[in-house]
Amino acid sequence: MKKITISVPSSVANVSCGFDVLGFCLDKPCDEMTVEIKKTKGLEIKIINEKSITTDPKNNVCGPVAFAMIKKLNLNHGFHITIIKKIKPGSGIGSSAASAAGMAFAINYLTGNTFSKLELVKFAMLGEEIASGAKHADNLSPVIFGGFTLVRSLNPLNIISLPTIEELYVIITHPLIELKTKDSRQIINKQISLEKAIQQWGNLGGFVASLYTKDYELLSKSIDDVIIEPQRLKLIPNFKEIVDAASKYSLGSGISGAGPSIFSICKGEKNAELAMDTIRKITDKKKLEYNLILSGVNKDGIKIIN
Ligand code: HSE
Repeated sequence: MKKITISVPSSVANVSCGFDVLGFCLDKPCDEMTVEIKKTKGLEIKIINEKSITTDPKNNVCGPVAFAMIKKLNLNHGFHITIIKKIKPGSGIGSSAASAAGMAFAINYLTGNTFSKLELVKFAMLGEEIASGAKHADNLSPVIFGGFTLVRSLNPLNIISLPTIEELYVIITHPLIELKTKDSRQIINKQISLEKAIQQWGNLGGFVASLYTKDYELLSKSIDDVIIEPQRLKLIPNFKEIVDAASKYSLGSGISGAGPSIFSICKGEKNAELAMDTIRKITDKKKLEYNLILSGVNKDGIKIIN
């Protein structure tokens, strides 16, 4: 096998209650990534339809992932990488994570599938780190494992696959502005009160329990962030109006990853369609352009196309 083409999905990290640890994979949008063995050493990166991303292997998220795998596998060749970018950079739905995870998955496949999913997340984290300036695997894990995941520990890396409720659908309300994860992380105060921490781990535990028990009321109550979202709200245009509009049909909404997108989780596709219509009535009135996406939860993660 010399070449592989994969579909690499977007993802929602944090899900309000689990900053840096909770995430789930979306059915769409997905990047298309083709990776081919190159006879000579080094990487050649091409990005179709997105000019803002660097193709310099040292600075592109694919670079550190590929170089670490090449070193570990002792390869004497490199790779051509072509990405058709459909996940907008800086949108809050895991654009950099998709490229880093796709890179790890593709190299593993082309070199005989010697690494476990956990090891692929470890390699992919090297790319995610240059994009966001910090180690986190909450977007990478659902892309590589599929469904909902919990990063219980980073060191040593421990990822738990959580159950996925079939009936959950998501609206992504994406204002067409770019918000860099680095910038969105920089404004966060690293000191938190014990009182807020107690509320927050209560919510995270509640959310995880709701996935096992399919308790929609508990799931809805648990989508609440008393620590990070209040600090980031100023970066998210029209947050309250959009969340209020969605609330009639959704179980809960919050900032998707580092923003600026907002996620709204709904029970059933019909409710998701109604939530999307209601959100559109708000966004249509704004000067800012919005892209609205309705997606299911993707249980499988990365798919091989060719
Ligand atoms: N947990 C991360 C954050 C996700 O909120 O900064 C962004 O990639």
